[in-house]
Amino acid sequence: MTLIEWRDSFKTGIESVDFEHAELVALINRLYDRLGAASGRREAVAAFLGELHDGIAAHFALEEKLMRKHRYAGLPEHKDDHEKLLDEIRDIMEEHERGVFDDASDRLAERLDIWFSRHFNTFDRRLHEAVSGG
Ligand SMILES: [Fe+2]
Ligand SMILES: [Fe+2]
Repeated sequence: MTLIEWRDSFKTGIESVDFEHAELVALINRLYDRLGAASGRREAVAAFLGELHDGIAAHFALEEKLMRKHRYAGLPEHKDDHEKLLDEIRDIMEEHERGVFDDASDRLAERLDIWFSRHFNTFDRRLHEAVSGG
């Protein structure tokens, strides 16, 4: 099962960055696929959301480390945008815990798709162009 499809609009045009992002999307889909096979749905969804959050946070942490290393001036805004997505995922986790939220997948897929299409092409592209001197 696939939660999000890799799309051309995710591409930054920088090969190594696109590769990392494709890996992130693949990780998300692997986690989602495992969720589909799991029994005990409620706990499985909670675990899935936790792992999804952590996987995305790990990618963000690497970028933020790169920004600090290069004393990148755009760090605050870029980090802010990362926090927005993590906040959204935490909101979904809380809703799920309260039982308000049954099927995480539709809204989650939509949020990730919109966020990735925008963030990869703006913040990430600018960052990687700046640090590679391009
Ligand atoms: Fe990124
Ligand atoms: Fe980023």
